[in-house]
Amino acid sequence: MEHNLLSTKDADGYGILDAADKRGYKNAYIDYLQKLALDREGAFKSTDIVLDFGCGIGRFCPWLASRCSQVYGIDPGTEVLRLAVQYNARPNIVYQVYDGETLPFPQSYFNAILCVFGGVLQKHVFPEEQLTHIVGELQRVLKAPGMIIAIEHVYGRTPARHYPREELLAHFTRHGLVCTSHYPIRKGHWPILYMIRLGLIPASLLPRLAQYELDKRRRERESYLDYKDYLFRFEKKG
Ligand SMILES: C[S@@+](CC[C@H](N)C(=O)[O-])C[C@H]1O[C@@H](n2cnc3c(N)ncnc32)[C@H](O)[C@@H]1O
Repeated sequence: MEHNLLSTKDADGYGILDAADKRGYKNAYIDYLQKLALDREGAFKSTDIVLDFGCGIGRFCPWLASRCSQVYGIDPGTEVLRLAVQYNARPNIVYQVYDGETLPFPQSYFNAILCVFGGVLQKHVFPEEQLTHIVGELQRVLKAPGMIIAIEHVYGRTPARHYPREELLAHFTRHGLVCTSHYPIRKGHWPILYMIRLGLIPASLLPRLAQYELDKRRRERESYLDYKDYLFRFEKKG
């Protein structure tokens, strides 16, 4: 993936990853770590039809397409989707714009759904009512049994504009989705991340560092001031 693509902003001005990371080392690290976390989760199967909800520039779509039978990437942003089509096209990926509310798919269409929110799951972007509606939509288009993997920032001391972890969980469980695991995979302001961003750590070490960080975060205590990327696994039981 081209590094400058990862510093793209979406239509609301949020970075796909860190929009200020012009050299791209930090974004490449986060991209690698998140995909490693998904691989460890073993969530996607070769026969799966998968939805990448809020796919942005299609960062995960080729990765999913190499593991699954068919991938749909949807997003309300036409500019990010244009980049997705230009840089991340594959024969088994369909990119589709949607209105941000109603998923353009029939009931029980997907075996699995990936949602990597990257910090946009905030109250002014997805107000309570819209979030409830969207989770209901995700539940509707998911087969039973089926699985949703979500990655989103979780704050130790939640700023007013973000949803606390318990509220996020409640939005999914309200629709009958069972959270079978959730755990931190990455720390937002890890000092080593700054060193990576400055190019002080050789790129060849980044894969090992990502493995180290994934293991480290799972062992850590809950309390922290910073945000962490959490991986959530929800299941729709058959
Ligand atoms: C931080 S980016 C993450 C993109 C991608 N999932 C990734 O991790 O590379 C957040 C994405 O959410 C999309 N988004 C904003 N509102 C949305 C909505 N109502 N439904 C789905 N996606 C939305 C934005 O257009 C943007 O592409």
